[in-house]
Amino acid sequence: MKIARFTRLGFILAAAGSAVGLGNIWKFPYVTGEYGGGAFVLVYLITVIGIGFTVMIAEMMIGYVGRLDAVGSFEKLAPVHKNRWKLLGFMGFTGLMILTFYSVVIGWIFHYIVVTLTSLPSSVAEAEESFVSLMTRDIGTQLFYHTLAFLVIVAIVVRGVKSGIEKMNYILMPLLMLIILGMFFYAMSLDAFTQAWDFMFVPDWSKMNSEALVTAVGHAFFTLSLGMASILTYSASLPKEINLKRTSLIVVGLDTGIALIAGLMLFTFLFQYGAAPAKGPGLVFISLPAVFYEMGSIGISLALVFFIALAFAGLTSAVSLLEPMVQYGIDRYTFSRTKSTLLMGSFFYVVGILALLANSTEYGSYLTFGSKNLFDWMDFFTASILLPLGGLLMSIFVGYIMPRSQVRAALKNSMSDVFFTFWYMCLRYLVPPALIIVMINLLGIVPSEYIIPMFVIAYAVTAFFGYGNYLKEKKI
Ligand code: TRP
Repeated sequence: MKIARFTRLGFILAAAGSAVGLGNIWKFPYVTGEYGGGAFVLVYLITVIGIGFTVMIAEMMIGYVGRLDAVGSFEKLAPVHKNRWKLLGFMGFTGLMILTFYSVVIGWIFHYIVVTLTSLPSSVAEAEESFVSLMTRDIGTQLFYHTLAFLVIVAIVVRGVKSGIEKMNYILMPLLMLIILGMFFYAMSLDAFTQAWDFMFVPDWSKMNSEALVTAVGHAFFTLSLGMASILTYSASLPKEINLKRTSLIVVGLDTGIALIAGLMLFTFLFQYGAAPAKGPGLVFISLPAVFYEMGSIGISLALVFFIALAFAGLTSAVSLLEPMVQYGIDRYTFSRTKSTLLMGSFFYVVGILALLANSTEYGSYLTFGSKNLFDWMDFFTASILLPLGGLLMSIFVGYIMPRSQVRAALKNSMSDVFFTFWYMCLRYLVPPALIIVMINLLGIVPSEYIIPMFVIAYAVTAFFGYGNYLKEKKI
């Protein structure tokens, strides 16, 4: 049904473009800072390899074999109850929910590109004041840049997979990598680099708790773009002959590499100028501009390329958040691409306006429900609940619902028997319990001190079963 296919490199860049986003450069450093560094990074890395990589292969496989939008692909692959399983495809809707706040944050970045060109704040206090004032009082500026972000995203998705998404990633991803690497080399020449290295790679286990663990799992999904059919939808346009394991590995590697490099770089800058690492979401918008100011004239250039890179990272991800529902409209309702893009885009645009109003002093109280305002609810609900849920259902679908033989056949050219056995084990025994534990923790029905032991047990049991199964297969 689809004619437009990515090239191999085009797909890798597009999938990496989806994965590498605000999650890597904005969120990863600040959650690492909040949860004390090394121990969090280690747990995150284990999760990315054990859970993220496993689910990435499964999600890619569904799109690659299904060749349709998410709903169509699940329907096609489900051996029974097609009508029920196809509902899973609606996980694409999570993307529109993420976009509501994601687009607002891209708007802040646009604003900061302009701020860099005009005047950087001269102290942390001033930087804090200007960021808080943007969020709580300056509705007009936010509205303007949110609209700009919306228009750019829509303009690219309207052009389709080849001349919109693929082309954009061909241009922006190499530039992004170049900027980040250049800044990283500069950071390496500063004294504080070793301090940043220790902060990120020497674990302090006293900081580890169940909340950090759950955040690490949620973030692994978010940063790899898993659990809502972004990767699935892109994979429907994969070239015919492709090694899914190798492709997943490259995407996971690029995403993780860029997150670690960005983290090291940011912490070096912060430590070098005596700023605190635990600054929360304002890290990039408050501490960093003040640090750039301290650096003098080189700081202004660094700030400029940094915010441009951040905008690139955000836009290539935003496009992948919109595409699943757009493809749904095209495949299911035979909408034209333009109509589908505008229809789906208008949802996140309008709700995004409410999300940004929720941060304002004037309207905040009308848009606060319980402990969080709408903006924070969107972030929490998607990253902590919907994405892990999507990942859970998807791994159950591939691990338990699709016949093993069909899964093996789909991955025949992608991996050896030994690797398949191990991957399949992880998918069946490691991913679901880990994700269920995450959700149990969120519901608060089990005391939090049991969460970490439960995790360790789940991993140990999988290793045990996996090894047993491996021995059994080897004998056959
Ligand atoms: N991975 C992106 C980031 O790190 C965000 C993103 C894009 C995403 N597509 C997604 C998150 C799909 C979850 C699911 O910023």
